Amino acid sequence: MIISVQNQKGGVGKTTLAIHISHALAKQGAMVLLVDADPQGSARDWAAAREDQPPFSVVGLDRPTIHRDLPPMAQNYNHVIIDGPPRVSDLARSAIAAADLVLIPVQPSPYDVWAAKEVFDLIQEASVFKEKLKSVFVINRKIVNTAIGRDVVEALSGYGLPVLKSQVCQRVPFAESAATGQTVLETNPNGQAAQEITALARELLELGHVS
Ligand SMILES: Nc1ncnc2c1ncn2[C@@H]1O[C@H](COP(=O)(O)OP(=O)(O)OP(=O)(O)O)[C@@H](O)[C@H]1O
Ligand SMILES: [Mg+2]
Repeated sequence: MIISVQNQKGGVGKTTLAIHISHALAKQGAMVLLVDADPQGSARDWAAAREDQPPFSVVGLDRPTIHRDLPPMAQNYNHVIIDGPPRVSDLARSAIAAADLVLIPVQPSPYDVWAAKEVFDLIQEASVFKEKLKSVFVINRKIVNTAIGRDVVEALSGYGLPVLKSQVCQRVPFAESAATGQTVLETNPNGQAAQEITALARELLELGHVS
């Protein structure tokens, strides 16, 4: 399955989730390729900050030919996760065209709900050529013990795309683990952040199995 993590809004957690989903799938024994489609190169920086090899392959493809370049590479992997760039661009369009599933992280704020219109429009555009393209929202950086996640789920329903049951909370280990090129599955394997990521990866796999 090729999952493209996309949102033109910056800082919503595209890179954080792309890295963590890649690790969660790799931990289950899958061969995983993480494609860094962001010229900022955050996922590549993350991999470079590690002391050892990451538990999955990381490659940079930040030209708007991802949809052409990826298929032959993807054959060697069970799953490919694309970390998308911020801002509307031909890169995001190419990274959506390459995908089976577009995962849209949104923070629980009305600004994020409104800003999702940009990625929604790109997906609509791609769906004309790609009938089977699936897209889902995932709430990231939810504040623990608040109801605000629920309001956002309701507001997002206006787009007519599903919102994943798994939500990822604002948790310090996500930011901390990044500094050393690790994931919470390594630094806090029994913590709640790790549980959220494992549940998210499971839900994504289930989505991939129903066509
Ligand atoms: N669930 C979370 N809990 C705590 N911190 C988080 C969480 N998700 C992301 N962050 C932090 O928020 C910041 C932005 O996240 P990230 O870089 O993943 O977003 P992005 O969408 O990839 O940004 P860009 O659009 O610039 O590529 C980072 O410092 C990251 O560590
Ligand atoms: Mg990023």
